[in-house]
Amino acid sequence: MIGIVLGSGLGPLADAVVVEREVSFAEAGLPASSVPGHDGKFLFGKLGGTSVVLMKGRVHLYEGHAPRLVTAGVRWMVEQGIQKLILTNAAGTLNLGFPPGTWMMLSDHLNLTGTSPLVGADFIDLSAAYDAAWRAEFRAAATASGMPLHEGVYAGLRGPQYETPAEIRMLRTLGADAVGMSTVLETIQARSLGIPVAAFSCLTNWAAGITAAHLDHHEVLETGKQAAQAMIGLLTDVLGRS
Ligand code: HPA
Repeated sequence: MIGIVLGSGLGPLADAVVVEREVSFAEAGLPASSVPGHDGKFLFGKLGGTSVVLMKGRVHLYEGHAPRLVTAGVRWMVEQGIQKLILTNAAGTLNLGFPPGTWMMLSDHLNLTGTSPLVGADFIDLSAAYDAAWRAEFRAAATASGMPLHEGVYAGLRGPQYETPAEIRMLRTLGADAVGMSTVLETIQARSLGIPVAAFSCLTNWAAGITAAHLDHHEVLETGKQAAQAMIGLLTDVLGRS
């Protein structure tokens, strides 16, 4: 079974799954999400013939939750028996070659949240946080279907405010291609449990200061909805082969 976490506005991905069973966040011991576009349930079913559990909605640091709670959903899915994890998120793009409306597969991340779900001591190796063999499969499938799929570094910040132009210049200097407020803690949690991870950013907007446009949560959700179809195709393709 594969776990899939759906980011902001990516709910339409759930429509591609033949759902067999639902479990609410409350039943799994998780807090309900307070953010529009984040639903709060697990859906068990099939995608491309493979057993999946979708985590529809997320728990974020910026809602005031502790890092262990932010990753409780990942631990719960591991208890349910997932062998691999796919994380999706909405992110701003800092890379002029990666326009909004396209997807970026994470090659690596910068954890800039200042915290970790492993606080207490667990010195895990993150030199290959995002599974190289699995990434090659996604890359090949995207190429075969003609889907643009960028690869780059995701900077995970605590939020909830979007960044200033100065912060975005700093992040570019640090080597980030995309910026968002999730994913990094979940990756760390999954890797500490030995679960391979693939992660994808739906690039919903230019990061602050890259263009004169203002950032707006509704724009993020709308772009996510429109780009969801391409990711449904990619996941159905790759999971259909595994
Ligand atoms: N910054 C941080 N998080 C985001 C953004 C952004 O520009 N867009 C979507 N999530």
